Amino acid sequence: MPNAISGFSKLTKSEKIEWLLDTYFTDKEAARTLVKQYWNTDQKLQKLHDEFIENTITNYYLPLGIAPNFLINNTLYTIPMTIEESSVVAAASKAAKFWYDRGGFKAEVISTQKIGQVHFVYKGDFKKLENFFETVKPKLILATSDITKNMKRRGGGILDIELRNKSNDLDNYYQLHATFETLNAMGANFINSCLEQFATIFKAEASINLDDDLNIVMSILSNYVPNCLVRAEVSCPISDLKSKDISDPEIFAQKFKQAVNIAEVEPFRAVTHNKGIMNGIDAVVLATGNDFRAVEAGVHAYASRNGKYSSLTHCSIENGVFKFWIELPLALGTVGGLTSLHPLVKFSLEMLEKPTAKDLMQIVAVAGLAQNFGALKSLTTTGIQEGHMKMHLMNILNQFEATVEEKTQIVEHFKTNIVTHSAVVEAIENLRK
Ligand code: MEV
Repeated sequence: MPNAISGFSKLTKSEKIEWLLDTYFTDKEAARTLVKQYWNTDQKLQKLHDEFIENTITNYYLPLGIAPNFLINNTLYTIPMTIEESSVVAAASKAAKFWYDRGGFKAEVISTQKIGQVHFVYKGDFKKLENFFETVKPKLILATSDITKNMKRRGGGILDIELRNKSNDLDNYYQLHATFETLNAMGANFINSCLEQFATIFKAEASINLDDDLNIVMSILSNYVPNCLVRAEVSCPISDLKSKDISDPEIFAQKFKQAVNIAEVEPFRAVTHNKGIMNGIDAVVLATGNDFRAVEAGVHAYASRNGKYSSLTHCSIENGVFKFWIELPLALGTVGGLTSLHPLVKFSLEMLEKPTAKDLMQIVAVAGLAQNFGALKSLTTTGIQEGHMKMHLMNILNQFEATVEEKTQIVEHFKTNIVTHSAVVEAIENLRK
């Protein structure tokens, strides 16, 4: 086991790499070459990436793919998707085209409120705390006026601050529960700065005006944003679902709805169902420089809001009309953070015609809905392995550096044979004999 190292962050990038190679690698030269192979030759660009995080040694690439033909509220988008999983971009593109031919997606932002909390403990009488809060609340708002002035000018800012009594859940526990409108910013820095200012003033005022001790535990935004909601839907007469892969639209619609209903009641299925939705959501969130961990945490909390983890999408069949929709919370930004720093994020946002945060919420929700439509369509018809195995087959053929001619013959062979790794290897070997 290596010794712990102190002062690591002070080392230069090269020193960090050398320490790493000396400590963990037997073939140091190979490891060093690999690390350097991923450096960008443009030193300015490399420096930019180095400085996004700490202790950077190299870059870790993810592919950026694009899914065209997304008609959303009558605007046509090409959606950028950053993801490592094969089939996701293909499924999104296929679903986009399917719904393009049927009127596209409709999306609406229901609400845009963000939340932040100052958590504190107080051992005195609640009535006294309530009275104190009412007198101090305007001072809290006033004390943040420097932080909020620009946001206010644009129409956002602090919406409200409430005192919440949580002492039934945890002894002596209370909160300042604040709501914010952060417009095109995701708002984490703005909210956290306001909250820390609330906490400072609240504590200072309490030490003068309250007899009993009040202690701040922490001040932080919440990534649970059930009032920052977006909804996206597709619908069409059942008969219009008929397509190359859907020969009987009535049976398809019923089976599809059944699959959604299963995810609504069965958490084991709901988790996988929603994972497929997040394939689409995260890919766009990442491509547009947003925080996918925040989105993931908030979305899954929302999926459990009724006490049982459930589907984010829903489906109805009424009067011969098939309707499929998603509703989920998304705290996204199109200004601030990585959006103006990462060149590919800027590129992605330009591709989306410089969306507002509300536009982006709609686009991301649609990507999730499209992904789920694609997954359920495959699952309830051919099964997903057919598509995956085609991809798997191509991967193996590429591994063996198959020529175009070899590929054509082998793909033809596997139209009527089951794809397994060994079967493909055998087919290549036979062909090359
Ligand atoms: C795989 O990444 C996603 C799926 O499992 C989603 C689903 O089952 O709905 C195909």
